[in-house]
Amino acid sequence: MHQGFQDDDEVCLCFHVTFRKLKSFLNREQPQVSSQLCNCLDAGTGCGWCRPFLEKMHRQWKAGESIELNIRSDAYAEGRARHLDSEA
Ligand code: FES
Repeated sequence: MHQGFQDDDEVCLCFHVTFRKLKSFLNREQPQVSSQLCNCLDAGTGCGWCRPFLEKMHRQWKAGESIELNIRSDAYAEGRARHLDSEA
């Protein structure tokens, strides 16, 4: 079974931006820098946890590779919870 991100999983948990939405945004808008992904429903502009993952998706897209995040979405959400704790 595929353990990575699925289309309906949220990459930006702050703004509920799904993996699918971000992939379509990349293909449609062709952003030159990953920070432009913030124009996709404000992705990355909250707690900041998802930013390295947005960068990774952007790198893969730019390189013409298939876009994958090889982390389970529950582990990802736990990582974000720890990230939020560490900032509190
Ligand atoms: S998870 Fe994307 S900014 Fe918080």
